[in-house]
Amino acid sequence: MKTGGPLKGFAEFSRAVAAQGTILLKNDNNFLPLQKQETVAVFGRCQLDYYNCGTGSGGSVTVMYSTDFINSLKSRNKVIVNETLYDIYTDWVSKNPVQPSNIVKSTHYEEMEITDSCVKEAAQVSEKAIIVIGRTAGEDNDNTNTKGSFFLTDTEKNLIEQVCKHFDKVGVILNVSNIMDMSWENKKISSIVYAWHGGMEGGNAIVDVILGNATPSGKLPDTIPIILESSLSNHIDKNSTEFIYEDDIYVGYRYYETFAKDKVKYPFGFGLSYTKFKIELLSFNLIGPITNSKSNGIEIKVLVTNIGNRYNGKEVVQVYVEAPQGQLGQPARKLITFAKTHLLNQGESEILTLFSPFFRSASFDDSGISGFKSAYVLEAGEYFIHVGNNVRDDQCPVNSFKINNTIVLKQVEEAMAPSMSFKRIKPVIDSAGRFHIDHETVPTQTIDLAQRIEERIPNEIPYTGDQGYKLKQVGHNQISMEKFIAQFSPAELEILVRGEGASHPNVTPGTASAFGGVSKKLREFGIPLICCADGPSGIRMEGGLAATLIPIGTQLSSTWDYNLIEMLYSMEGKELIKNNIDLLLAPGINIHHNLLNGRNFEYYSEDPLLCGKIASAVVKGIRKSGVDATVKHFACSGQETNKRRLNNVVSERALREIYLKGFEMVIKEGKVNSVMTASNKINGYYCASNYDLNTTILRKEWNYDGFVMTDWWTCINDIVNKGEGSQNNLANMIKAQNDVYMTVGNYGAELNENHDNIHESLNNGNLKLSELQRAAINICRFALKTNAFKRGHMLFENTHFPAQTGPIPKLIVNNILEIENTDNLFYFESSGKFQINVTYSSTAKGLGQTACNVLLNDFLVTTIHVGNTNGKTFSKKLANVKMDQGNYNLKLDYIPGALKITKIEFIKL
Ligand code: BGC
Repeated sequence: MKTGGPLKGFAEFSRAVAAQGTILLKNDNNFLPLQKQETVAVFGRCQLDYYNCGTGSGGSVTVMYSTDFINSLKSRNKVIVNETLYDIYTDWVSKNPVQPSNIVKSTHYEEMEITDSCVKEAAQVSEKAIIVIGRTAGEDNDNTNTKGSFFLTDTEKNLIEQVCKHFDKVGVILNVSNIMDMSWENKKISSIVYAWHGGMEGGNAIVDVILGNATPSGKLPDTIPIILESSLSNHIDKNSTEFIYEDDIYVGYRYYETFAKDKVKYPFGFGLSYTKFKIELLSFNLIGPITNSKSNGIEIKVLVTNIGNRYNGKEVVQVYVEAPQGQLGQPARKLITFAKTHLLNQGESEILTLFSPFFRSASFDDSGISGFKSAYVLEAGEYFIHVGNNVRDDQCPVNSFKINNTIVLKQVEEAMAPSMSFKRIKPVIDSAGRFHIDHETVPTQTIDLAQRIEERIPNEIPYTGDQGYKLKQVGHNQISMEKFIAQFSPAELEILVRGEGASHPNVTPGTASAFGGVSKKLREFGIPLICCADGPSGIRMEGGLAATLIPIGTQLSSTWDYNLIEMLYSMEGKELIKNNIDLLLAPGINIHHNLLNGRNFEYYSEDPLLCGKIASAVVKGIRKSGVDATVKHFACSGQETNKRRLNNVVSERALREIYLKGFEMVIKEGKVNSVMTASNKINGYYCASNYDLNTTILRKEWNYDGFVMTDWWTCINDIVNKGEGSQNNLANMIKAQNDVYMTVGNYGAELNENHDNIHESLNNGNLKLSELQRAAINICRFALKTNAFKRGHMLFENTHFPAQTGPIPKLIVNNILEIENTDNLFYFESSGKFQINVTYSSTAKGLGQTACNVLLNDFLVTTIHVGNTNGKTFSKKLANVKMDQGNYNLKLDYIPGALKITKIEFIKL
C-alpha cells in the first residue's frame, strides 16, 4: 500500500500564511522593504541554517525540501548580496556543521565569531546589514533563562555590537520559536522582524516580506517584556514538581497592562505594516438584553482605511473590555473580539463588524465574593470598550455600558478547585487610580468529589453476547448504540480502551497510533482501526515519508486571521486523507503562561480568545476535508521539564477564565470530536484521571460528546485520593471518562502488554462495567464519524510483495533472517501469507524513540518504532504480508546506533 505524500499547492499556500504571520516590530526610516539594487550584507549562521520548525513530536515532519534565508534572497536577484560575506559564512558553516544531537536537544546553534575587520570591510561595500538570529525549542526541550536560549550568547551580542558599530542601517530577523529577550535592541537597529519558524517555505516567506512582495500583517500573540519577569510565571525549576499559579488570571498582558505597564517592550497585539491604516468607529451597539445567549452582545462597526500611498496591506482591529473592579478584581484589559481586513490597496477602505457576546466580558466567581459562587457574572459598574490595533491603542473613542446590579450569566457546579490553600494576586487601586498588587487566599474545594462520582455512575447495559449487530447499523439508526455495546464482553471492552502504536503495521507507516478496532473481534463488530498522527506543523510519519511542513502555531496565531487558518488546515485535511490518516493530533492550545515553555511554538498565545479562535479554525478546516482534529493538551501543560510529574496548582477562576477557555471554545465553536489530556497534574489529579476535567466540565457542562485519549505513556492516579501516578492504572482513567490509553505497543491491547488494572478492578468492584461501557460508547460514537469507518476495511494488511528473479542469493533457514547488514538479499523458498517478526534491542535514552523502515524489494512494509529497552532483547510482531517463492532484498532503512535489529522471522499463517 503506497501512501500519498505531500498535497500539491499546500506548501505554496503555507508560504503566504507564513508571510502574514510575520511581525514587523520596528521599521525606522523605511529600512524595509529592501529596494532594487540595494547592497546588503547578511550576518549570522542561521541565514543558512535557517530554522523551519520547533523540535519534538510537534515538528518532526519529513520534507522533500526546505528553504533558507540567504539562498532564497539571492535567488530573487533583487538586491546585491555581499558575496564575500556569503562565502565566509558558507565556508564556516560547512566546516562547523550542526551536529544531529544538537538539532533536537539544543535551543541554538553555535555562532561564528566575527572579526572587526570583516564587518568593516562588509560595511565598505554594503549599505544595509541584516542579522539573522535563530532559536528553537520543543518537546522535552524547554528554554532556559540563560545565554543561548532566552538570551543572546556573547558571540551573538558581539555580532550585533560590531555590525551596529560599522553599519548605519541595521535590521534583525528573529528566526525563533518563542519570544526571546530583546534588551539588546538599540537605536542603531532600524528594523526588527519576528519571522518565527515558517515551515519548509519559511525562507521564501521571510524573503517575500523583506523584499515587499508581501506586506507583513502579523500582530504579537504575546507581550514582549523588557526583562524576564521570573517571579510569577516565567521560571522553570528542574528540582520542583509543583508550580503554583500565583498570578491567577493575570497572565501575559492581563498582568503587564494591569500592574507593570512600564515593563513592556512591545505590547500584546502590536505589529507594524509597510503602510498605515486609520480605524474609525462607525457605531457601537448593545444587541439584546445582557444574557448568556451567544447572539446577545456588543456590536462595533469600524471603517478601516489604508492611508498609505505605496503598499497594500491588512489590518487587525482588536476590541478590549475594561471591566469594573467590583469584588472580584479585573485586569485592565481583556480581549473580547477581533477581526482582520482583506488586503486593502492604497486608499481602499473596508467596514468591519465586530461582535462580542456578553459572556466574553464575564468573570468566574470561585469564592462567592460577588454574591454568586460558581457562576459567570458581570459585576455592577461601568464597562469601557477600547478599540484599536493593539492592547494599548485607543485610536477610537472609548464607549461604555453600565450594569446596575450584578448579573449572573451562567450558574455552574464547582469543579477542579484546589484542595491546597495558597495566595493569588489581585489588584488594588490607590487614590491616584494606579494599580498595585495585593493578594488574596484562593478558595479551596468544598464539594465531595467521591460522592459526586458515585452518584453519577451510569446504569449498566445488560450483556447480551454477540447478536450479530455491526457498528454500521448504529450509523444507519437501525439499532441503538446501547444495543450494540450490550454485545461486548468485559474482556472485549477492555481491549477497546487501549490504543496501539507507534508505527502500527496496519495503518500508515510511522504514525503515532492505531486505535479502535485493535483486535480481530472488535473489527468483526465493525469498529474500524483508526489512524492518528502528529501535528501540528504537518504530518509526522517517522521513518521518512514526506509531508508538508507548515508554519509553527505561534506564527499562525500571529496572523490573527481565522479564515486564513481554516483554509490552511482544510489543505492539511486533504493531505491527511491522501496519506490515509484519520485524525491529526493537533491543535495544541496551551496558554503561553511561561515564556520558557519549549512547546510554546506549537501553541498559540497568552490570550485564551485568540487561542480558541485560531484553534477552532484549525478544527473546522480539517473537518471540512472529511477528517478530524484532536485538541491537546487538556490542560495546563506549561513546561516540559518534569512534565510527567508536575502538579499545577491553579484556582478554579484561572482555570475557567484562562486555561480551559480555549478548549471550551474549540469544543463549542470548533465542534472538535477528539481531546487529548495532558501528562501533568492539576490540583493533585493527573489530567487522565481528573473526573471534573473530563466529566463534570468537559461533558456535562460543555456538552462534549466526542472521545478523550491520554497523552503518550501518561500517568494516572486515584480519582478521589490523588496520590502517586502509574501507567497501568487504567481503571481510574476510565472512571474519569478519559476513554483511551495511548499507547500499549503494537498488538499489545489484546495481550494487555501494559499489565493494566482494568480486569482486576472490574472483578473487585473498583471499576463498574457501566463505566467501561460508557468509554466504549464514546469511542464508537467517534469511530462512526471517521474516515476509517467510511473506508470499511483495513489498509496495509496482507499486502503482496512480489519476489524477483535472477541468480539465487543466500538461502535462509527456517524462514529466519539473521541481520548483519542494512541490505539483506535472500532466497525465499515458500509462498503465501506470513507474519513478520523482529528481534531487537534499543539503548535510546530516557523516553527517546528510534525508528527504522523495513522494505521488501524497495517497497515499504512497515516502520519499526521502539522506545528504550535498556539493551534488553525483545521480539515484536511487525506486519502480515503475502510473499512468493523467489528473491528478496529486505532493507533496513535507519541509522544504526541505539537500535539494534538482530533477526527477522517470517511465520507462515
Ligand atoms: C506528545 C503529544 C503527541 C504524542 C504522539 C506525546 O509525547 O506530548 O503531543 O501527540 O506524543 O506523538
